[in-house]
Amino acid sequence: MKSIIDILDLSTDEIEELIAVAEDIIQNPRAYAHRMEGKKLATLFFEPSTRTRMSFEAAMYELGGNVISMASAASSSAAKGESVADTVKTVSCYADIIAMRHPKEGAALVAANSASVPVINAGDGGHCHPTQTLADLFTIRREKGRFSGLTVGVCGDLKFGRTVHSLINALSRYPDVHFVLISPEELKVPSYVKRDVLAKKGIPYEQTTNLEGVIGDLDILYMTRVQRERFFNEEDYLRLRDSYILTPEKLKGAKADLSVMHPLPRVNEISVAIDDDPRACYFKQVKNGKYMRMALILKLIGGDGQ
Ligand code: CP
Repeated sequence: MKSIIDILDLSTDEIEELIAVAEDIIQNPRAYAHRMEGKKLATLFFEPSTRTRMSFEAAMYELGGNVISMASAASSSAAKGESVADTVKTVSCYADIIAMRHPKEGAALVAANSASVPVINAGDGGHCHPTQTLADLFTIRREKGRFSGLTVGVCGDLKFGRTVHSLINALSRYPDVHFVLISPEELKVPSYVKRDVLAKKGIPYEQTTNLEGVIGDLDILYMTRVQRERFFNEEDYLRLRDSYILTPEKLKGAKADLSVMHPLPRVNEISVAIDDDPRACYFKQVKNGKYMRMALILKLIGGDGQ
């Protein structure tokens, strides 16, 4: 039984397999329509979500399976003080696989150690969000045809943005990737990511506060929201929330084949005027995420997708 807590729980070969299955699902959806018949996915979301929760649920339904879920954390027994460990032990009695989001870093690992079915981390605090990274990788592969040799700009809240931490971890396994880390001083990539991932693997990176100064160098620009829910005070959030707003004017300095990505939800980081630009990929990420979650469910509970 395998759980997915971190993107590094999947080897690069396994990611290639998932991409191949996701492509095949897109081409042959009917071949997969009954693969999870009789199986149940439980979605346990202790934090708000639109995409991750609904794409897991859509993924399971499109595989012919069923879904059970908590209406909200507040209406579950977590509100009475039940631990994550006891919650997942209980839900393991009802479901074949669990997708869980929790505000505390490490909660997904606690869940995986307590559950008797596979647990997929759907985001644990500011730590990581591996299935968003699967969506991101599939999108990069479809847009660029490769992972190696790319200059990847990540911009915004790089301190609390869990999708950024997972993406850096994932792309650091491919040759000749160069990161440009664009953030306010207060929201830089945590030192443990720089030390344990970038420096350890000798990955070239630069840090800057100036998006306009580097946008022309980038193959991918991964914008992120300033994570209001992780700030200790509202004043700091209000000061930093609009640090970067991507506009058509700023995109004029970018490559013609730049891919603009964002895990969403967006607040102000990308002007809606960019949505129709062919370089905008963020709604493609949403769609691609469902196919990668279908492929992951198949991998973890009984199908190989072939
Ligand atoms: N990208 C993402 O995790 O979106 P949600 O918070 O809506 O699930």
